[in-house]
Amino acid sequence: MNKKRKIIIVENLLHVYKEKVETVALPGINFDVEEGEKILITGKSGVGKTTLLHCLAGILRPTAGRIIVNGNNIIEKDQDQLADYRRDTVGLIYQSFNLAPFLNIKENIEFPMIIAGKAKDFREKRIIELTDELEISRYLNSVPDKLSGGEQQRVAIAVALANQPEIILADEPTGNIDVDTSKTVYNMLTEMCDKYKTTLLIATHDPDAINYVDKEINLPKLGGINL
Ligand SMILES: Nc1ncnc2c1ncn2[C@@H]1O[C@H](COP(=O)(O)OP(=O)(O)OP(=O)(O)O)[C@@H](O)[C@H]1O
Ligand SMILES: [Mg+2]
Repeated sequence: MNKKRKIIIVENLLHVYKEKVETVALPGINFDVEEGEKILITGKSGVGKTTLLHCLAGILRPTAGRIIVNGNNIIEKDQDQLADYRRDTVGLIYQSFNLAPFLNIKENIEFPMIIAGKAKDFREKRIIELTDELEISRYLNSVPDKLSGGEQQRVAIAVALANQPEIILADEPTGNIDVDTSKTVYNMLTEMCDKYKTTLLIATHDPDAINYVDKEINLPKLGGINL
């Protein structure tokens, strides 16, 4: 049987936010993801979906547990290694698009590639390829403000994919757009991930999202409990 490689293994992942009250955001969860798989992360508000994505992105160091990505536990990485991991391995997509308002669309997509030290030829080719596929080429010289929500989210997909990450993490990617536009965004996002063999994790409340993924992970209600 042709068994696929596990790209992510999450073991006993626990996160407790230690503010005025201590909140258990992730109660010790376990799951794994195969290379190229599309995963939906669901669960009630406050159950820890965003916290999980931030842990997987290397933005938040969890309280305990292991996150093995490509065979390495990212929780053991130092700050420099984590910065490399964030730049090279993961791409993030948010509800609020997170584009730089004073850069045009071309510059927004080019920026992560400049940071990663990609050559100008590569950058130019990649911008043309991504904007063609996402049907946003006509906006290259516009600033994000001039685009609709759905168009801005397609730019955000291009930004996330620019450095050819192995994993895309999307947090409520259709939270700010209407139902029809959401379908376009899901279709384009999942087609791009298929094309580049990118593993995709989407956290959302949107019931339509299940139609675009291989597997659902429903987080346990234990997340979000104040101690
Ligand atoms: N920075 C923080 N400091 C303290 N507590 C936090 C912080 N961020 C989140 N929490 C708490 O951790 C729990 C999990 O939050 P999280 O944002 O991960 O949930 P979520 O599943 O993404 O919710 P939603 O569906 O509303 O986006 C909640 O109880 C939340 O109040
Ligand atoms: Mg959230």
